[in-house]
Amino acid sequence: MSHVLDQIEVFAPATVANLTVGFDCLGCALEEPLERLIIRRSNTPGVKITAIHGADLPHQVERNVSSRAALSVLELAEGGHPQTGVELEIFKTVLPGSGIGSSSASAASAAFAVNQLLGSPLKLEQLLEPALDGEFVASGARHADNVAAALFGGLCLVGPDGVVNHLPVPDWHIAVAHPQIEIRTLEARAVLPAQVELSAALQQMSSLARFTHLLHKGDPKGAALCLTDTLVEAHRIPLQPHYSAVRQAALTAGAWGGGISGSGPSTFWVCRDRQTAEAAGQAIAAVFNTHEMPHALHLTRFSPRGAHTAS
Ligand code: HSE
Repeated sequence: MSHVLDQIEVFAPATVANLTVGFDCLGCALEEPLERLIIRRSNTPGVKITAIHGADLPHQVERNVSSRAALSVLELAEGGHPQTGVELEIFKTVLPGSGIGSSSASAASAAFAVNQLLGSPLKLEQLLEPALDGEFVASGARHADNVAAALFGGLCLVGPDGVVNHLPVPDWHIAVAHPQIEIRTLEARAVLPAQVELSAALQQMSSLARFTHLLHKGDPKGAALCLTDTLVEAHRIPLQPHYSAVRQAALTAGAWGGGISGSGPSTFWVCRDRQTAEAAGQAIAAVFNTHEMPHALHLTRFSPRGAHTAS
């Protein structure tokens, strides 16, 4: 039997979306960083944000990703008219505009937290749409690549129909490099063309199909070598600090492949082992240092774990 608690601490992972090969349809959860949120029951029906630590974000319910997602779960669970009151205290460890699913970590943690507080009336799968209401606030689109991975964990394939398939998670070691600039998803989507060349679409289709096949075959290196992007990358490179040099440095250090994480500015580089990921990270850091670009590095792995409570 489920318990109704008065305060719950929840975490949701940062995510790498697109994985270069699957624009808007692939996303994978990272082991770290993790977003943290505390939800408390209140006597006033609806959602209120009590504090946001680590980022300057709106507190208005409809303008904040976390509260928007939380409200949608309340509405869904309580027949459109929330009777329960919840307060959110948000700890933004996954920084906004970083390209590793900040808004999705917020949306997923908030959606998951409300459902937990209510005693889990909704199945995990039912939280995807309300979490997307939150994601929409940030990106102006309902792509579920980051959100699905942040909610469910692992490597998710999610089409425009919202159906999620869980793919085998490759055991790569990953260097995520985050130059300390912000790129808003909305802006990174505005540079994309409405139409693409048939030949580019064909190349991308075959890469994604081969990637999926090799994951199922258990060939992480082969899958890594499929990480190409003929649809989006070229349009976003001008937004990315020193992208060509970063890519060259990572590959020379031994990374199998990688590219822009989500809509950037972070990039991700997949490697056979921790040592290679460290070398790739150092090589990228050297590029940024040369250009006096402040940056953060995460040496991490893909994780099967999505949104979860503190226990
Ligand atoms: N698929 C999205 C994009 C991820 O590339 O715009 C960013 O949220």
